[in-house]
Amino acid sequence: MTTGTGPLTCRRKGPLRGAIEVPGDKSISHRALLFGALSTGETRVRGLLDAEDVHATRRAVEALGATVRAEGDELVVVPPAALREPGDVVDCGNSGTSLRLLTGVLAGVPGLSILTGDASLRRRPVRRVIDPLRRMGADLSARDGDRLPPVVVRGRPLEGVRHALEVASAQVKSACLLAGLFAEGETSVAEPERSRDHTERMLAGMGVPIRVDGLEVTVTPSRPRGGRVDVPGDISSAAFFLCGAAALPGSEVTVRNLGVNPTRTGLLDVLAAMGAGVVRTNEREVAGEPRADVTVRAAALEATEIRGAIIPRLIDELPVVMVMATQARGRTLIRDARELRVKESDRLAAMGETLARAGAKIELFDDGCAIEGPTPLRGVTVQTRLDHRIAMSMAIAQLLSGEEVVLDDVACVATSFPSFFSLLDGLSGSGA
Ligand code: S3P
Repeated sequence: MTTGTGPLTCRRKGPLRGAIEVPGDKSISHRALLFGALSTGETRVRGLLDAEDVHATRRAVEALGATVRAEGDELVVVPPAALREPGDVVDCGNSGTSLRLLTGVLAGVPGLSILTGDASLRRRPVRRVIDPLRRMGADLSARDGDRLPPVVVRGRPLEGVRHALEVASAQVKSACLLAGLFAEGETSVAEPERSRDHTERMLAGMGVPIRVDGLEVTVTPSRPRGGRVDVPGDISSAAFFLCGAAALPGSEVTVRNLGVNPTRTGLLDVLAAMGAGVVRTNEREVAGEPRADVTVRAAALEATEIRGAIIPRLIDELPVVMVMATQARGRTLIRDARELRVKESDRLAAMGETLARAGAKIELFDDGCAIEGPTPLRGVTVQTRLDHRIAMSMAIAQLLSGEEVVLDDVACVATSFPSFFSLLDGLSGSGA
């Protein structure tokens, strides 16, 4: 069963018990298609996420001349000899990763491209990619004084430069490194904290000379050669079940074949710090990315502080961490997470407002929040705001409340996790 559209009333009961696999990692899936399209040889991908955000990247690389076809349980990306100018506006849907990474790629490719997206994406900032790419000589412009999509890119010769990012961002870092593949001379990107490093790992695996020195990454212009990508399960999708299991008495959930790249596992550190039982087994590395089976068992949770370098390692998981924190004893503090305000929605505002209506004791800051627990939650009606993670986080809040929660529109869930509700049904042993 996949997600529907329109409103959905959730009335499941816990605990959550069982072993599952979650769909492929979204960040790695985008990169497999995009880097495959830039390569000299073909790329064979196993476990690609089948969800709308990744479909947007697939359509984009096809518009640039790549061919993507299924062969058995693999997808094969066949690159064009040279990327071509897209024949129409490129619609990235809800996907910030597609739009920002493509901006980097297209900056150095001859031709005119226009990148746009849905109402949520057209509210998300693009100056963060425009400014650094302009320093490399890129010709870019965007709506509202270069702040918002659509983005217009006129590909031209670029020069490698050193970038120092003010905010850790894998999308901005990747956009600069991808532009660097087509530039004259080396391109370096230094970040204040380390963001997810899938780009570095995958480009290195495809033969691109790329060096990591502390928080700085340097790429030498070259074309990737393609190869094999095996996509692990997405920890950002597993997070909903892992947090639900930690907070719902009697729960125990195992997620097999899960990506546990250290730049993504902040959630597992937080679960352990809050006292949930977290066990990793079967740890191994496949195609340059670590993976493991991860089991989380319910416990009486204790509040914790989440701030500083851990934030980029769990940024997408924070909405459901906020839900879990309502059940922990004490004051959970989240700081340094201003980036949450520019995701698919303003997630601090959305979760703050919704959890407060559900009875949580929550104080919002510009860059985070404090949640005092434990507090019983009540049923609410949720505005999902074109944001998949708000919808799924509040489906977990419903389980914790034991009351009815109405999600006003669940179409957004299909952007990253179309099988979310059926996996939740399986683990909770109940229907919606
Ligand atoms: C992503 C990077 C993260 C994350 C997003 C996916 C990526 O954003 O929030 O969902 O695939 O590069 P940042 O650019 O803020 O790191």
